[in-house]
Amino acid sequence: MYELKTKTYGRRKGRMSKAEKEALERFLPMLQIPLKGIINHEKEFSRKAPLFVEIGFGNGSFLYQKALSMPYADFIGIEVYITGAAKLIRKMTGYDNTKEPTPSNIRIILEDARRVFTEYIPDSSVTGVYILFPDPWPKKRHHKRRLINPEFAKVLLRKLQKGGFVLVATDHKGYAEVIEESFRNAGFEKSKHTDLDEISYTKYAEKARAAHAEIYFFRFIKP
Ligand SMILES: C[S@@+](CC[C@H](N)C(=O)[O-])C[C@H]1O[C@@H](n2cnc3c(N)ncnc32)[C@H](O)[C@@H]1O
Repeated sequence: MYELKTKTYGRRKGRMSKAEKEALERFLPMLQIPLKGIINHEKEFSRKAPLFVEIGFGNGSFLYQKALSMPYADFIGIEVYITGAAKLIRKMTGYDNTKEPTPSNIRIILEDARRVFTEYIPDSSVTGVYILFPDPWPKKRHHKRRLINPEFAKVLLRKLQKGGFVLVATDHKGYAEVIEESFRNAGFEKSKHTDLDEISYTKYAEKARAAHAEIYFFRFIKP
């Protein structure tokens, strides 16, 4: 259930409490989208609704709040960090492993997002993508590990509907420059309308604020 087919960097698993393990085992099978072919999100959620995807949802705070506040939309969270999925599921059960997870508009995929987007997400199907504080891999020799590069920006452009967006935040200046260039070269337009409050409750946004780090925040639009 937890094997990855491609190589990713960073943690796959952290310390998990007994309750987190239980939540994962009990509820992940009903929340996880199996990667068996192109995803039909209308079938997965049993309705026709706008689709949003968060890549690297961490402990799931943003995804959980966003899905709660937008019950008319559907959300897929993609992560490689299994403990993060357990934490999200605990939120969805109100920290009570006997309760069914809510809201019902969240699904989880534990896989490398590059592979999920390239092979399983249909073209022109996504309304919005959130990538909040992707690992910056600051050392030069590690730059090739970064999630966002010109190639992945092109993939995201293909997967979005016309007018769809990618919202990206980072507190790493060098990575911010690469991000901006990658999205521009792929054919995105940079929107002037950005509101940092939208992402105030992610763990890494809080960390960046506590360290008084500058946050670079972008909304790229598919024209
Ligand atoms: C620095 S954390 C940010 C977490 C969260 N977005 C936040 O703002 O608190 C980056 C997250 O991206 C995930 N990640 C890294 N590479 C990924 C990939 N290829 N596919 C999916 N998730 C990935 C990591 O496991 C990690 O949880």
